[in-house]
Amino acid sequence: MPFTLESGALATDGVQLADLARAVGTPVYVYSASAMEARLTAFRAAVPAGSLVAYAVKANPNIGVIATLAKAGAGADVVSRGELLRATTAGVAPDRIVFSGVGKTLAEIEAALSAGIFQLNAESEPELAMISDVAMRLGVTAPVALRINPEVVAGTHDKISTGRREDKFGIPITRAGHAASLAAVLPGLRLQGLALHIGSQLTTLPPFETAYRTLLTLAANLRAAGHTIATLDLGGGMGVPYVPGEPPPPAIEDYGALIHRLFAGEPAQLIFEPGRFIVAEAGALVAEVILVKDGADRRFVVIDAAMNDLMRPTLYGAFHHIRAVRPHGGTMVADIVGPACETGDTFGRERDMDAVEAGDLVAIMTAGAYGATMASTYNSRALVPEVLVNDGRWAVVAERVPPERMIALERAPDWL
Ligand code: LLP
Repeated sequence: MPFTLESGALATDGVQLADLARAVGTPVYVYSASAMEARLTAFRAAVPAGSLVAYAVKANPNIGVIATLAKAGAGADVVSRGELLRATTAGVAPDRIVFSGVGKTLAEIEAALSAGIFQLNAESEPELAMISDVAMRLGVTAPVALRINPEVVAGTHDKISTGRREDKFGIPITRAGHAASLAAVLPGLRLQGLALHIGSQLTTLPPFETAYRTLLTLAANLRAAGHTIATLDLGGGMGVPYVPGEPPPPAIEDYGALIHRLFAGEPAQLIFEPGRFIVAEAGALVAEVILVKDGADRRFVVIDAAMNDLMRPTLYGAFHHIRAVRPHGGTMVADIVGPACETGDTFGRERDMDAVEAGDLVAIMTAGAYGATMASTYNSRALVPEVLVNDGRWAVVAERVPPERMIALERAPDWL
């Protein structure tokens, strides 16, 4: 566990969160490098040897984080030119990068092909044609996989389900054969595999199994039709526990056992795109209590982090456990809210939490995935900084971006 009480206060990797807050200011994201590495190692050990574990950069695209994972053996799954740039800058070898996404632009396809990445996961017939055109222009052959939509209900939050019939992602399973024939005749393409990703924060294994069986059947059919299926990209999606006391999602060993059982004897190289599983629990957002105010019938703990710093509660109604960095011993029931001018700026309602008062620090847990990367500057608040901790050392891996720097990028028009 990355965040534990040491001398009565939360610390990670031998560094007290209070010391980091004092040095860097609040709010601040704190990540444990060792916890991320441990998760990656556990994932790689659970899946068949020779698989490519392409960390889904979108979960936490900080350069320090990607570099840590690259050094520990991760490839990268990217969805934009920016993520591709981050992955290569952080030291991920191009031949360990896959590019996913439902709307890659011509410029992004060109960047991916120029970098010589391992695979582009194509999500539609028009996209196959676009990739072929760009490849022809560049004089290269594009390695593509078909991302299919397996029509599976993943049982997760509506906004992060991606493999249902009505979702925008992938090629409908019923047209996969047609898409493969198209890929085979387009001159700029080399069809090398299949891909899917059915959603994020999955907490049971059956949806994975259903989707993977669909993929295996399709692979067999396409091979029978003469296509080469040398890679099977099984996506990401493994959930993590957010709510203390609730049954945890399946262990990674159980996911690995499912993979071994389903893909035993499968000649294709397997690719995985885990994001949240690798980084979520390795991160916390540390904030300071500005004040505690009593409403008509509720107590509000107003902290200096807001919805713009961590969107998940506002956007998905997501639960994040909130702890005092130095618990005094007592508890209280309160709503934990930010200063932004929206009622949705609420991190927790009627929480039975560690008692806190003005000036205390709190840690919003399990914030290493889809935290800082989804931050905005709403209410003209600074972009929150990020700190990576490892074995007693720490480094600011993303600076706070204050309003002065944002305003410097803006100007009033000449006509004023
Ligand atoms: N591969 C593809 C093609 C994806 O779209 C995603 C996530 C992943 C891999 C990684 O999934 P993971 O292992 O992290 O579940 N912002 C939301 C999550 C959005 C996930 C989008 N796609 C949240 O905060 O819950």
